[in-house]
Amino acid sequence: MSSLKSTQAYLERHHGGDGKRAAQRTLESHQRNHDEVFQAFWNQHVSLSIDAECHIIDLGCGPGLFLQDLHKSYPHARLTGVECAPYMLDQVPDLPQAIDIQVADLNLDLPDLFAPHSVDVAVANRWYMSFTSQ
Ligand SMILES: C[S@@+](CC[C@H](N)C(=O)[O-])C[C@H]1O[C@@H](n2cnc3c(N)ncnc32)[C@H](O)[C@@H]1O
Repeated sequence: MSSLKSTQAYLERHHGGDGKRAAQRTLESHQRNHDEVFQAFWNQHVSLSIDAECHIIDLGCGPGLFLQDLHKSYPHARLTGVECAPYMLDQVPDLPQAIDIQVADLNLDLPDLFAPHSVDVAVANRWYMSFTSQ
């Protein structure tokens, strides 16, 4: 059975043993990873107007840059990120009120993290990365 601590240890290894550097890389590569290819993918799968009052979640939100992009695109949306790597969370800046970050391990059974039927769009960046590398 996984635990928050074992996932954090796994992620630190996955991030090359230097979490601070990994967080920096995530910040630096944000633009590149959310380029016009990503935008086209998003537009193909997500149909939301700029005034949508919806709830979008970013599973593994890192330092929260994508949540901030979403806030610009959908200023009326409620936005929630989930993250458990402390060095990523350390890089989260002050965020607008519409953005909330939950510290949780997505490997765990988390029945109370989101109420049933409360989420309109869920994003998991790793899924996108697999998609583009094929
Ligand atoms: C590639 S980054 C994506 C950052 C963000 N979604 C974006 O698009 O800018 C993936 C993030 O998922 C987090 N992560 C991976 N496994 C996780 C888990 N089991 N629970 C919570 N966060 C996790 C990592 O720490 C990392 O910050």
